[in-house]
Amino acid sequence: MCGIVCYIGKQEATPILMEGLKRLEYRGYDSAGIAVSDGDETFLVKEVGKVRNLEEKVQALSPHGTMGIAHTRWATHGRPTVENAHPQTGETEKIFLVHNGIIENYRFLKDDLEEKGHTFKSQTDTEVLVHLIEEYYDGDLEKAVKEALGLVQGTFGIALFHRDNPDKIVLARRGSPLILGIGENEFLAASDVNALIRYTNKVVHLNDNELAVLNHTNYHITDFQDRKVTREMETIEWDQGAAEKKGFEHFMLKEIFEQPECVKNALRGRIVEGEGVPRLGGLEGVLDRLKSIEKVHFVSCGTSYYAGLLARYIFEKLTDLSVEVEYASEFRYRNLRIDERTAILAISQSGETADTLAAVREARRKGALCLGLVNVVGSTISKETDAGVYNHAGPEIGVASTKVFLSQCVVLTLMALLIGRYQRLSLTDGLLVTRALKELPDHINKVLKQADYIQDIARQYAKYNDFLFIGRLYNFPIAMEGALKLKEISYVHAEGYAAGEMKHGPISLIEPNFPTVAILPRDSTYSKMISNIQQIKARDGHVIAVAVEGDDHIQSHVDHVISVPHTIDIIQPLINTIPLQLFAYYIAKERGCSIDKPRNLAKSVTVE
Ligand code: G6P
Repeated sequence: MCGIVCYIGKQEATPILMEGLKRLEYRGYDSAGIAVSDGDETFLVKEVGKVRNLEEKVQALSPHGTMGIAHTRWATHGRPTVENAHPQTGETEKIFLVHNGIIENYRFLKDDLEEKGHTFKSQTDTEVLVHLIEEYYDGDLEKAVKEALGLVQGTFGIALFHRDNPDKIVLARRGSPLILGIGENEFLAASDVNALIRYTNKVVHLNDNELAVLNHTNYHITDFQDRKVTREMETIEWDQGAAEKKGFEHFMLKEIFEQPECVKNALRGRIVEGEGVPRLGGLEGVLDRLKSIEKVHFVSCGTSYYAGLLARYIFEKLTDLSVEVEYASEFRYRNLRIDERTAILAISQSGETADTLAAVREARRKGALCLGLVNVVGSTISKETDAGVYNHAGPEIGVASTKVFLSQCVVLTLMALLIGRYQRLSLTDGLLVTRALKELPDHINKVLKQADYIQDIARQYAKYNDFLFIGRLYNFPIAMEGALKLKEISYVHAEGYAAGEMKHGPISLIEPNFPTVAILPRDSTYSKMISNIQQIKARDGHVIAVAVEGDDHIQSHVDHVISVPHTIDIIQPLINTIPLQLFAYYIAKERGCSIDKPRNLAKSVTVE
């Protein structure tokens, strides 16, 4: 949530900062700004709206200099206005600061500063922080930052510089990610590696309660008690092209089409041939402990939560574990029975979601084994868990998650298989699962080939403002995810429901302007799904069905059929999710929505 990018080196900073902001825009996009210094003069440019609005202003003003900081904002305190955009400055307008996170005690600090004569131009908590640092500044910026941060409650990832000493950028972190990019005599920093990979693949992660100083030739890290921190550089494997659209109109469409590859990446090197069991290197260190676990809680948010909901059914099928799925934001406040025989599995694309991280910390406090399923290597959740597995899905830029959702479902299936095979799952059943997973990329390709057909259906339905998505068993979470995709990117009201519950409420909504998307694979729920569809048709509701190839029976019951390849029950939902992603995408496109950056949403939610 919110994006930070900084540069100090030999090149002109502005183009690098602007490029970085574009790559971070999915983290927040209601206003943006940069501050660049050429040693004598500091240029501050801010604008409301997307980064392209800022770009127009930047082109007109041509800020120049070899160091600078930049920010794209997702508003928490104060509306999106130029005054509230970052960088924020203090009383003397000499310190320039960008901030991700929330200063929870900003009101108290502000009152105190006002009494000391400070006046404020914005409604932001960030401006309070700049004034506070200014209050402590006596020529030593790092010292002032540490002293000020000692008084701050809340979360922050900050970058700042002082006009009188434009040879250094100071960064500090608690709860909001910051990554240093190490180039040849140039240094960058950003809240996300996407902003760095074009310039360097060598990174150093800043941890909580650490401060870094970048200058034109060097960098160093200390903790808030001034102790030197030595940290190895890491090499990022994501290639720059992965963060570009490669001819697709939107990142979301590109990411939907990347899914066959994503499945291959999630499976690569992880299936032990002929054994019906996966090898998950990240879990090997805790395998013995895992064998004594009786209960697992999946904790996550948004789309990752739906991956957990699906995985519950898969774990129930393949393992003897008892599984609970909980929104991370709820989990941390519940009074749960957690002990050393309990594991929690945090599922998070970004690995930075504040609620999920808080849930991990809460579970750790209670003695649970903490596992992670994360896409972003080196992210906070990946570091704060005892063990875990990476998705290896590459960067996901579209705010609405598609390829990582699928990848999560694949890896969760592998985890269930691993545990199940140590329990009662037979070799034969294990082999059925691994074979179905290996066939998955081809099956997905078959669905993707129907994109034009799905677009055609979406055109016919784009005028509706309400949708119901129904499914049973494994496909109930997929119905919810399908509804979420539609509401996220096309601002259409959509409800995902367990089809059996339809008669207990949603059926009252059914009428010709309230279409239903029904998922009905050829499993034990088929005839019940047909009954639900008949109930909808009896009330003049339109129905689009996602059904398996060769199901000729369904045609006569519904208005449209999207046929998908058939596989085993537990893998079928992974295929069924693809047409729903495409359906949401094409409806949003038809309605002219901002698909990759939907209003009010952000990719990485680092506020609670
Ligand atoms: C935000 C994003 C969603 C994502 C959710 C959880 O709401 O817009 O796409 O599913 O956060 O994010 P995580 O990174 O923890 O999976």
